[in-house]
Amino acid sequence: MHENHNSTFKNTSIERDKLRLGVNIDHVATLRNARGGSHPDPIKAAQIAQESGADGITAHLREDRRHISDKDIFRLKNEITVPLNLEMAPTEEMLRIAVNHQPHAVCLVPEKRQELTTEGGLNVLSNFSDLTPYVNRLKKSKLLVSMFIDPELEQVRACADLGSSIVEFHVGAFCDANSRNRDKEFNRILRAVREAEKLGLECHAGHGLTFENVGEIAKIKNIVELNIGHFLIGEGLFSGLNNSIKEMRKIIDIAREKGFD
Ligand code: PXP
Repeated sequence: MHENHNSTFKNTSIERDKLRLGVNIDHVATLRNARGGSHPDPIKAAQIAQESGADGITAHLREDRRHISDKDIFRLKNEITVPLNLEMAPTEEMLRIAVNHQPHAVCLVPEKRQELTTEGGLNVLSNFSDLTPYVNRLKKSKLLVSMFIDPELEQVRACADLGSSIVEFHVGAFCDANSRNRDKEFNRILRAVREAEKLGLECHAGHGLTFENVGEIAKIKNIVELNIGHFLIGEGLFSGLNNSIKEMRKIIDIAREKGFD
């Protein structure tokens, strides 16, 4: 079912020209959980996303289960046809769940109980020895492993040393930047992407992407996947989830045509 979505594809020009869009449906579950019932259903949102041009679905199963639940992961695995990217903290419990459910890919993220969202990337460098057994066990279970990191050269190198095949750059600092430091943040991403490419790592990006800022990131051809959630779900309240995803798809595709290496 997933042959056409294999993340470890070769960087041919045709494949690199199409930027994959992963839709993160966590905040549909946030809304559902606000009332404790079953509506709105994040799996229905995932189905709408795949019909509207999403190449994959991303869901973050948090330790405190504040949005996505274990049952959601089970249902996503069984009720969607595009690849499932499971975001999770590197813990024994999550490792067991990942191995059990066999998502297409696992993205390791840092997690703090009090944070409103994933505030920064995983510090792979300083947690190298703690992360090693998780990465090894996920790989042994034939799962693609991605690490959510800040766009820093030493973090990229640590991911390569760890044996991860994918890095997802936390682009929140760029998305939040004002006009004075925007270029600096953009160049930080660009340098990190180039280092990742040199080391043979596939690059993804996410966090804080909107209609306004996605174009600049989409132009970087070595980034092959974007994972976008909060903005798409929020915008979907006004225009319909299908329309917000289609519009994002359109903006990404247009930007990609003007992309650079
Ligand atoms: N990628 C990762 C690894 C994330 O943790 C998140 C959510 O913080 C996203 C992408 C999506 O970010 P956003 O909801 O801001 O679009």
